[in-house]
Amino acid sequence: MNSSTQTILEHSQIPRHVAVIMDGNGRWAKKRLMPRVMGHKRGLTVLENLCEHCSAIGVQYLTVFAFSTENWRRPQEEVSFLMGLFLQALDKQAQKMHRNNMRLKVIGDRSRFSVEIRAGIEKAEALTAGNTGLTLAIAADYGGRWDILQAANKLLKEGKTEITEADLSRHLMLADAPEPDLFIRTGGETRISNFLLWQLAYTEFYFTDILWPDFNVRAFGEAIESYQKRERRFGRTSEQLPPEQQRG
Ligand code: FPP
Repeated sequence: MNSSTQTILEHSQIPRHVAVIMDGNGRWAKKRLMPRVMGHKRGLTVLENLCEHCSAIGVQYLTVFAFSTENWRRPQEEVSFLMGLFLQALDKQAQKMHRNNMRLKVIGDRSRFSVEIRAGIEKAEALTAGNTGLTLAIAADYGGRWDILQAANKLLKEGKTEITEADLSRHLMLADAPEPDLFIRTGGETRISNFLLWQLAYTEFYFTDILWPDFNVRAFGEAIESYQKRERRFGRTSEQLPPEQQRG
């Protein structure tokens, strides 16, 4: 990715947290008569590029859906390939991220991953924990309902009989991040697919037909421009907003 759109973006408001469903890898490969997994391979490169770009323009958190709870149902060969790619990302990419002052986090249920992957996650998180730049959160074996339930179960274990939003929020997987400002889904589908159900309550949604392996700086710039044109009122009226946040 180059940074040709950077000049357009840097004067306006950059979202602090962007959440992405990286969809369309299989179709991208199929169109090229390649095995589906080649789409995932290319998808990892696109993710790497997006991290660099987000870091350059000042996005602080990038959360991506890499593997849903439901993705275990895919053909064994594809699941194995994705696990291999994940392991590779945890090793090679994490070192590169560390050199670039980025933090890596994995959110989801780790119990079904292999011992190697669990060790890889712990190592990558520990290596990058002290970094202060972009935080990349990879959602793996993640589901939004699972996240809410695991938080509620922790509260039950604490002995709570009545809970507040703040109680629940502090036990969610992304407790240390602001809620996403912008949600992007590539690949033409217009669903949340059990991604960050709690955290997307006030997020701006952006859907594009572009398949994830074709997503680039220009496409990301268009999503940001669309976001910047929106008026985020959080329940208030337009007139109650400071003038710089009113959109016409
Ligand atoms: C959805 O496309 C994509 C996935 C289920 C996997 C996403 C994984 C990557 C982008 C690889 C890199 C990430 C890591 C951290 C290993 P799809 O296969 O459902 O596409 P389709 O809808 O065209 O079939």
